Amino acid sequence: MTNDIPRADNTTIVIFGATGDLTRRKLIPALFRNFRKGRLWDSTRIVGVARRDWTDEYFRQHLHQGICKSGPCDETKWAEFAPRIRYIRGDLDVPTDYVQLERQLRRMEGRSTNRLYYLATAPEFYGPACESLAAANMTAETGGYRRIIIEKPFGHDLASAQELNHRVHAAFREHQVYRIDHYLGKETAQNILFFRFANTLFEPVWNRRYISNVQITVAEDADIGARGGYYDTAGVLRDMFQNHLLQLLSLVAMEPPASLDANAVRNEKAKVLGNIRQIQLADTIRAQYAGYRSADRVAADSLTPTYAALKLYVDNWRWKGVPFYLRSGKALSTRSSSIIVEFQAPPDVMFGLARNQSFTPNILSICIQPDEGIHLRFETKVPDTIAESRSAKMDFSYREAFPDIALPDAYERLLLDALKGDASLFARADGIEIAWRLMDTVLNGWEKTPDVSPLHFYEPKTWGPAAADELLARTGHVWRYGCGEDGCPM
Ligand code: BG6
Repeated sequence: MTNDIPRADNTTIVIFGATGDLTRRKLIPALFRNFRKGRLWDSTRIVGVARRDWTDEYFRQHLHQGICKSGPCDETKWAEFAPRIRYIRGDLDVPTDYVQLERQLRRMEGRSTNRLYYLATAPEFYGPACESLAAANMTAETGGYRRIIIEKPFGHDLASAQELNHRVHAAFREHQVYRIDHYLGKETAQNILFFRFANTLFEPVWNRRYISNVQITVAEDADIGARGGYYDTAGVLRDMFQNHLLQLLSLVAMEPPASLDANAVRNEKAKVLGNIRQIQLADTIRAQYAGYRSADRVAADSLTPTYAALKLYVDNWRWKGVPFYLRSGKALSTRSSSIIVEFQAPPDVMFGLARNQSFTPNILSICIQPDEGIHLRFETKVPDTIAESRSAKMDFSYREAFPDIALPDAYERLLLDALKGDASLFARADGIEIAWRLMDTVLNGWEKTPDVSPLHFYEPKTWGPAAADELLARTGHVWRYGCGEDGCPM
């Protein structure tokens, strides 16, 4: 990773499924922001491909609305950017359309060009699209690179992920494949490795000798909205844990890589995920928010969890015996993603603790969003008392420390990385499969022995079921609320 992000080369970005929401809401605004920052080569062109019979002009107007919704319209820059965008009609499930597309692209490009394909389509097209791209001779890296970005969900379980990896690998070599997990593009997630490995202070205590437990929370206040069709077949484990939460865990728990080279980083991430002990069903809590079943395209008797909390252990030298608690849910009381590292309490040998007073352990909160920052809680003596202690905080807030720098959207960074060939923030085939193996055990257990971890229900705008508190209480812990305003004791 360098400070000076190199410019992308002469490239065509081909977005499949370009009339969908992702292109307008995320991809084009991210590319436009990179363009405004001067990070795209002038020769970069963007080609949208989808089934609808749209013209270039109509496509550009459609995208322009997304730009204005996501930030400044910047009409002057847009006027420079828009001509680089083209639209080509094509059916993703018709192999001859790819042959036709290749011809049109070649005509447009005129010379050897790099290509970045983006599958912004429904997941059932991922396999067939890769096969059709290969069949149309669009994957060979003879006149420039050929890379492909694949959106989540990457598979529905281990077997389907393996099958998809197999189909993808029949068309592309692994170094050409960029499986996106937008959590890894978040500035605060990237900062975890910097925080751990660019400071001498924390790494020596980052282990079982000093850390009592780690809590990773991705709480959302929004419910499933209009995504019932997808969500009811997925549920929170597939939607959030298999990818985002396990990726965050791997950043917190991995060993230092020898370099920030993509494979060095991903080797360490795969290793730590591989060291997670099989999750016990009794250590899982699943729940559904009241009202979920009446959402559009959700089964009236749905058992799909919209909330889960898990306790897991990483069986290696560093982490043996330290519980990692992961939780995520929809319709919770606030939107807040955080990683809380709770240190062990000091031995109570002095300070008058005989009066049943106990120290609050040191707590390090890494706030991923929305109030991005890092906070450290420590104990201090209350002035003018003999030995009364109170918690105090040291705060780092991105907003205060970098008032002039807006945090970039995850897609901005990830698209740029894919353009320049840095896959360190993308998931590798083995990492995806290990994560699915972990989730499959829980998903199968919930289905086959539902009584071990029954489905709970919770009211929207709460912190989920009480059972999740009991899960921690069993090991003498409580959920810490390090970020966000609601119920935040920090
Ligand atoms: C997506 C999930 O991957 O991440 C959504 O499919 C979820 O259900 C979203 O809402 C959360 O992302 P963020 O960046 O808003 O925290």
